[in-house]
Amino acid sequence: MIEDWTPVPKPLFTVRVCINKRLNTDKLPSCGGHGSRGVADLLERMIMAERLPASVTRGPCMNNCLHGPTIKIQGGAFLSLEGDIGPDQIEKVMAEIRAESERRKSMPPVPAKPPLP
Ligand code: FES
Repeated sequence: MIEDWTPVPKPLFTVRVCINKRLNTDKLPSCGGHGSRGVADLLERMIMAERLPASVTRGPCMNNCLHGPTIKIQGGAFLSLEGDIGPDQIEKVMAEIRAESERRKSMPPVPAKPPLP
């Protein structure tokens, strides 16, 4: 029997992580080449552990390849990790996700649509 179980909050916003990986025939960097897939997995686990109302979406290039891994928080920050996926950068991303979560919690609820006549 599970006694301490509480449901994970419904995702209110997404955290989009670019996981594009180039074949590198053009010698340009890509987020996938800088470890963004691992960053996406790590962020997903941290969001679940903190029970934040966010979900991670793995997406295509956001035209910020030279400064990636690139992360876009829906309705919030656009983050460029500049090739650094160390603990400090991950904590910076999590701080932005927490801030967006708090901002959304403090927003008034969307009023229900009136019934059709
Ligand atoms: S490869 Fe990630 S922004 Fe272009």
